[in-house]
Amino acid sequence: MKKSLKLKWKLSLSYVLVALLLVGGVSLFSNFLLQRQFEQYIIQKQNEKNREIVNQVSQQYDPSTGSFPASSLESIGVAALERGMIIRVSDGSGRVLWDAMVHNNGLCHRMLQSMADDMKKRYPGFQGAYEEKNYPVLSGSRAAGSVSVGYYGPFYLSDNDTAFIGTLNRGLAGVGLISLFAAALVGLLMARRISQPIEQAIGMTERIARGDYPEKAPARSGTLELDRLADAVEGLSRKLERQDLLRRRMTADVAHELRTPLTVLRGNIEALLDGVWQADEQHLSGLHDEILRLTRLVADLDKLARLEDESTPLEKSPVDLAALTSGTVLSFEPKALEKGVSIRVSGTAPPIEADGDKLRQVLINLLSNSLKSTGRGGGIRILLSREGRFAKIEVEDTGTGISPEDLPYVFERFYRADPSRSSQSGGAGIGLSVVRAIVEKHGGTVTAQSEPGHGSRFTVLLPYGPDAALKDETEEQPPE
Ligand SMILES: Nc1ncnc2c1ncn2[C@@H]1O[C@H](COP(=O)(O)OP(=O)(O)OP(=O)(O)O)[C@@H](O)[C@H]1O
Ligand SMILES: [Mg+2]
Repeated sequence: MKKSLKLKWKLSLSYVLVALLLVGGVSLFSNFLLQRQFEQYIIQKQNEKNREIVNQVSQQYDPSTGSFPASSLESIGVAALERGMIIRVSDGSGRVLWDAMVHNNGLCHRMLQSMADDMKKRYPGFQGAYEEKNYPVLSGSRAAGSVSVGYYGPFYLSDNDTAFIGTLNRGLAGVGLISLFAAALVGLLMARRISQPIEQAIGMTERIARGDYPEKAPARSGTLELDRLADAVEGLSRKLERQDLLRRRMTADVAHELRTPLTVLRGNIEALLDGVWQADEQHLSGLHDEILRLTRLVADLDKLARLEDESTPLEKSPVDLAALTSGTVLSFEPKALEKGVSIRVSGTAPPIEADGDKLRQVLINLLSNSLKSTGRGGGIRILLSREGRFAKIEVEDTGTGISPEDLPYVFERFYRADPSRSSQSGGAGIGLSVVRAIVEKHGGTVTAQSEPGHGSRFTVLLPYGPDAALKDETEEQPPE
């Protein structure tokens, strides 16, 4: 398997590589430019020196005699020789008046040789040679003679010049090194900033895989993609944790709920088998009731499981809540009449996109609870309205109410405020869990308020408008 390199090192290395290329490129380019400029400068300087000597020579010209004083020619020539220039002065007829080569041939050759050696040593490929330039000496507009200046060309760099170039190059190298160091440092810092949140996300997913759901969300890095990764991992963790919890509780709850009817059935059937009881209608219908209860429980659980399964879609269509409510209330009328409880519907709500059958189930469960808890002379009121972007349904009754200790748990599956009474009336404690699952699947909320002895109110908020439930999470949330 190919060995993987840590992101941190990869990023740092690439930073250093880019810096190396840049620094190298810039150094080479500036070095080249500098060298060229400097050579031009030296050549120009040489030309200036030549002209200076020609000037000195022409100042010595005496127009009255038409000649140059030999002694001054010699002192100019010797001074020029000391500055690395070999001069030869001729008069108007071309006769040589003074020649450095003649004056000190040995010195001239030694000097040229040492210059050539110096340049060869510093620049091994340097193509240099002795060069000569001729300048006329003018008196007025008439040619009084000529000066030939010989030197080592095309240019010669003295020790000072070389030292100057050396300093510049060292400066460039220093800047390059500092840049490299800075690039490596910035690379490492950047790499840490990027790799740390990724490492954290990896750590979190590994913990999730072991079934250990981290409490703390991964830290935000300020980098969009990394923050999204952190959000995704956190979301995954919460979701899996919830699923895990649901699965475990479901098993425990179901076992608990099955135990009671099974014990009753077993006891009764054993009594029948032992001949303690007769298999008469009364006993058999008791057994039948238990079986019906079990069947209902299984059906309810099935319904809840399907609702909580996020892959089951809702069958949405425009729903008129007022019509849906009146229709549902109508089916409760006979029972309400029998119990002496009045049911009233008032208000209007905007049409919503929803699964009508499931919303009917919500109303049935809420109404059946209210009807169960409300005694003769009591009343149930359903109020439809609108709150912000939500359609609101309130189901209010004047029943027994729910104690503050029970209130937070009524939406939990199998939770019954008064188990003995509720099991008598056949409830398994699933109705409100189904209500909550349906409402939440629509993107809404359901809450309960109650005053024990005076009644309860269940409030359902459902988002309305096209694709309201699909709206971004940053959109308006149902008020808590
Ligand atoms: N309107 C209400 N008034 C008083 N108590 C209520 C009301 N609604 C719910 N409760 C309490 O909340 C508990 C849970 O209600 P839920 O509808 O989930 O279960 P259930 O009615 O007992 O059984 P199921 O609905 O499964 O037949 C009830 O047992 C009851 O104690
Ligand atoms: Mg119920």
